[in-house]
Amino acid sequence: RGKRPAGAPDRKLARPVTKVGVVGAGLMAGQLALLFARQLKVPVVLTDIDQARVDKGVAYVHGEVDKLLAKKRVSPDAANRTKALVTGSVSKQAFADADFVIEAVFEELHIKKQVFAELEAIVSPECILATNTSSLSVTEMAADLKHPERLVGFHFFNPVAVMPLLEIVRAPRTDDAVLATAFELAKALKKTGVLVKDAAAFVVNRILLRLMGEVTAAFDEGTPAEVADAALRPMGLPMTPFTLLAMVGLPVAQHVQESLNAAFGDRFPVSDNLKKLIDNNVKALWDTAPDGSRT
Ligand code: CAA
Repeated sequence: RGKRPAGAPDRKLARPVTKVGVVGAGLMAGQLALLFARQLKVPVVLTDIDQARVDKGVAYVHGEVDKLLAKKRVSPDAANRTKALVTGSVSKQAFADADFVIEAVFEELHIKKQVFAELEAIVSPECILATNTSSLSVTEMAADLKHPERLVGFHFFNPVAVMPLLEIVRAPRTDDAVLATAFELAKALKKTGVLVKDAAAFVVNRILLRLMGEVTAAFDEGTPAEVADAALRPMGLPMTPFTLLAMVGLPVAQHVQESLNAAFGDRFPVSDNLKKLIDNNVKALWDTAPDGSRT
């Protein structure tokens, strides 16, 4: 049965999860919906602010299942079952009978708090609420909840399908049963759940951002993205820094930098150029990089 992970409460306290809600239908949310449906084999409903986003999220899941089918990683039956489990709705009322709802909306504290306030008016008293925040305070997110004991941080890494780690964040009032459920869920999702302190950017991004902070500082000082990537390629990183930035998304990277800068000051600089690139809506700064310099 395996050893209990450090900090995990007794697994006997864990509650069953028979329906999952995912708030948001963007990059992380779609990946989460796929993972939950595939591994837990329970219905998963995605919501977003309009039908087009919802449809895009569901289409993403179906597209990923089709890729797995083409690679013969799933049987046609399993593919159909996974697809059927994932539905979308523009209304959070679809979460009324969910046991576990995770938000993966924009990385802004006030937006996340608003989402949780809306959710509390809809979900059952036993429903666990989780946040996939990369860097914001789970304690602050819980502060205005009617039931702060039901909130837990459940932070996945991109690409969700292949990254094995899951940071589980306990806020001061998180209930033992909620935490035990989070650890059991991690196991059922075939992820390694680790308990981390509710500190800015938790553990992984805090460490990763020391490297990325220097990379973006060099970029601010005039080092082209393709030069930084080419310089770091022989270091054996799984992805070069700007390829990683492209995958994570510049706004997300900027928010993580800002959270760390607010918590730790100059040790974590915020890149001026990342801001400029976002302001100018530059979606792929390495588009101009020579082919050979991309991973
Ligand atoms: N979605 C689904 N599956 C993916 C994928 C994606 N976006 N990207 C790669 N994969 C799968 C591939 O399909 C492949 O699976 P199969 O073996 O079944 O075909 C497997 O991953 C390996 O892929 P590749 O052989 O093509 O490439 P690789 O060996 O370079 O590995 C990688 C790809 C695992 C993504 C690797 O490059 C890597 O680990 N990159 C670093 C990722 C990272 O650091 N993520 C953390 C970002 S920070 C974050 O997410 C936190 C935050 O909150 C901001």
